[in-house]
Amino acid sequence: MSEQRTETLRRRTFAIISHPDAGKTTLTEKLLLFGGAIQMAGSVKGRKAARHATSDWMALEKERGISVTSSVMQFPYAGRIVNLLDTPGHADFGEDTYRVLTAVDSALMVIDVAKGVEERTIKLMEVCRLRDTPIMSFINKLDREGKEPIELLDEIESVLKIQCAPITWPIGMGKRLKGVVHLLTGEVHLYESGRNFTRQDSTIFASLDDPALEASIGAGMLRELREELELVEGASHPFDKAAYLAGRQTPVFFGSAVNNFGVQLLLDFFVEHAPSPKPRATTTREVQPTEEKLTGFVFKIQANMDPQHRDRVAFMRVCSGCFSAGMKAFHVRSGKEVKLANALTFMASDREIAAEAWPGDVIGIHNHGTISIGDTFTEGENLSFTGIPNFAPELFRRARLRDPLKMKQLQKGLAQLSEEGATQFFRPLMSNDLILGAVGSLQFDVVAYRLKDEYGVDAGFEQVGINTARWIRCDNPKKLEEFREKNAMNLALDAAGELVYLAPTRVNLQLTQERWPEVTFAATREHA
Ligand code: G4P
Repeated sequence: MSEQRTETLRRRTFAIISHPDAGKTTLTEKLLLFGGAIQMAGSVKGRKAARHATSDWMALEKERGISVTSSVMQFPYAGRIVNLLDTPGHADFGEDTYRVLTAVDSALMVIDVAKGVEERTIKLMEVCRLRDTPIMSFINKLDREGKEPIELLDEIESVLKIQCAPITWPIGMGKRLKGVVHLLTGEVHLYESGRNFTRQDSTIFASLDDPALEASIGAGMLRELREELELVEGASHPFDKAAYLAGRQTPVFFGSAVNNFGVQLLLDFFVEHAPSPKPRATTTREVQPTEEKLTGFVFKIQANMDPQHRDRVAFMRVCSGCFSAGMKAFHVRSGKEVKLANALTFMASDREIAAEAWPGDVIGIHNHGTISIGDTFTEGENLSFTGIPNFAPELFRRARLRDPLKMKQLQKGLAQLSEEGATQFFRPLMSNDLILGAVGSLQFDVVAYRLKDEYGVDAGFEQVGINTARWIRCDNPKKLEEFREKNAMNLALDAAGELVYLAPTRVNLQLTQERWPEVTFAATREHA
């Protein structure tokens, strides 16, 4: 097998999706622990804090106890290379999270056993569904009382509209938690508390029939378990790999991240069954990960990781070929060849200078604002990856300058922050207003903070009568011109110069759509 194929097949690139507080950070720590990336779980939060200290504007994150930025962690496990792309946890940071999900091959959904399917999980699931991303589920906090496991599977199936295939099953819960049964191997793993900082080498029984098991958990509990398993078998679906890979079925695991219980069973199954990098669509053709030439796209920009240098790091997911340090690549949008010097890789222990990267890996490219989200790099071929969307904002504000002489800086700042995806920026055709759009309201705070901190601009934001935005497309140039003329009051250009309809109300949007059947009103825009 060629090195290209071997390296591609052993990559597992994924993100964890969850409602805040379900245990994403804790689970990340434990996964890194198994990956040997950290000696002792608990250091992720420490690392986070250290990173915060490196950048001034991130003080805002610290103040609010949220993580605005996402990072990439790579670790080896069982002969595979796992790339975990962290998604910002706070409910407000929708767009950034969504775009991270375009760069992964699968996702892991964490659900709090007591809370069940929460609102944020539902939204993230919708995003995963856009690309039929395969999802595994981890039901967390089994050491606490929660909903009945069967009830939870029902909830996932009915609310998230995805089949559940339990792979492990809990024995008891809360104070009565005894362990889990692996439904495919029949093995029983006992729960022992106090193991949270070590690898879990819990007592394992080969099957339910092991006499020592009865002695350990008691005859009553064993009988209860057998009855429950019969019920589960009748009521749930057996694991079907094709259905999982197609995004129609989610394998479900139970455990307790903080106690490091059930996590290794999940990870073992994950590296075996989760997909390696798949072919990806571009404007001209499908790119196979096993192709020898490098291609990749940028899904995230992070500014000013080092405030001394005011530089930005563009996170590029490799889709084919191999990146090697110092190589040149073709930046398709600008048509220029760029030397990828000092690119970063993201071994979980620390950021490092990349030596090489394969499909599924992420590298960080330093630049001074020349690279945007959605940009494609190749070794010369003129193609662009598709499917990295801008979402229609749901909140709008008009930027108001306190010092009118700073107009230029304000425009520059807003243009750059929108390039990074921190906000969306619209210029109405008929006025000089600067309109900002966001998916979550905290985005405005971040923008105000960064405008002041990085561009020296004191700007306020005021309410504006806009309810939603739609990107306008029309194949008939005459119709489009007519539409433009008749609706100029509600039209604007986004930062990329695309035409957008800013609807004052939902009813207005609906009426306008009905009146102009030849015009498409898109709720997402692909990055050009
Ligand atoms: P998030 O990233 O999804 O927001 O969640 P995070 O891991 O920070 O976990 C949220 C809280 O839930 C934390 O408590 C964490 O310790 C706790 N937690 C995670 N896994 C488990 C589990 O298996 N069982 C129980 N009982 N709790 C769990 P916290 O008090 O908010 O933070 P901390 O002070 O403990 O760090």
